[in-house]
Amino acid sequence: MQGIEIIATGRSLPARSVTNQELSKIVDTSDQWIRTRTGIGSRYYCEEETTASMAIEAAKKAVQKAKINKQEIGIVVVATTTPEYAFPSTACLVQQALELPEEVMAFDINAACAGFLYGLGIIAPMLQNSRKPYALVIGSEHLSKIVNYKDRGSCILFGDGAGAALIKKSEKDFYHKGYTRGNKECLYCNGLSSKKEDFYLHMEGNQVFRFAVSAIEEGIESVLKEAKLTMEEVDIVLCHQANGRIISHVEKKYKEYPALFYKNIEFYGNTSAASIPIALDEMEEKGLLKEGQKLLMVGFGAGFTWSSCLLTI
Ligand code: ACO
Repeated sequence: MQGIEIIATGRSLPARSVTNQELSKIVDTSDQWIRTRTGIGSRYYCEEETTASMAIEAAKKAVQKAKINKQEIGIVVVATTTPEYAFPSTACLVQQALELPEEVMAFDINAACAGFLYGLGIIAPMLQNSRKPYALVIGSEHLSKIVNYKDRGSCILFGDGAGAALIKKSEKDFYHKGYTRGNKECLYCNGLSSKKEDFYLHMEGNQVFRFAVSAIEEGIESVLKEAKLTMEEVDIVLCHQANGRIISHVEKKYKEYPALFYKNIEFYGNTSAASIPIALDEMEEKGLLKEGQKLLMVGFGAGFTWSSCLLTI
């Protein structure tokens, strides 16, 4: 247990929102099919925006809201599966754009949709050993450039965006679990290592669905056990927004408990590592995050990776 708290958040979305109707002009699909099977109504696609530009905007907003001295930031982590470049890391571009001090460790991580929560798990012990009290953890994705618009079973799910959280070393409890089950078959993107026709994201939707449901349940139960808490004591559960049906399935299992299962997938689609910090920022804006509340977050994705954490607002 390494104490951290979320001080401020920010998000950045491309200007262009693409509805299901618009997508159905280039993909053999319909608004009704997408809404029923996924809960998605629209998603954002980058035009001028990039993974780095969105990460920078989201991070700037978080830092501005927190009104802290930027010299006090010691770590910048960008969780992404779609980095701006193979190198330098997107985090280095954030350091440059925010004019952060050179005495900062800036690096990217790829744990797919579990990336933001892996990021929190990594920076918590780092902050305890750091002379500086703050870290920036950012999730940023430009997924519209890797989806295959000839594969209607996957392309309708994904969207672009970024979310950032300014994290402070704290006395407040923080519990974290992280998992991996190596699997290349169900969800992968060959990307740079491939021939052009083999470039795109590939997903076995049914198998990923089954994995996702079990990963969320395992993530919730394991972090509760670690924290010696029960679901009764949790105020909010924030799951990676992969598919509204996946979240509803888990929500039903815990229906006798008071926790709010937050969903915003209708307006963003699945933004992978960005989905949890985008939702955090939206919840903060809506006044849903109140001091003292227990927040349980669960992420899961390609790898397979999954991760959960429990912290106090
Ligand atoms: N529009 C219309 N019809 C479609 C579409 C579409 N976009 N996509 C598939 N179909 C058709 C199929 O061709 C199939 O037709 P058939 O019965 O005539 O053969 C039928 O719909 C059912 O297809 P399924 O693939 O079985 O549909 P399913 O109910 O499983 O839904 C979905 C597919 C939405 C992808 C679901 O499996 C899912 O959400 N899986 C989890 C995906 C996920 O969470 N991925 C991300 C997690 S990790 C990460 O975030 C990177």
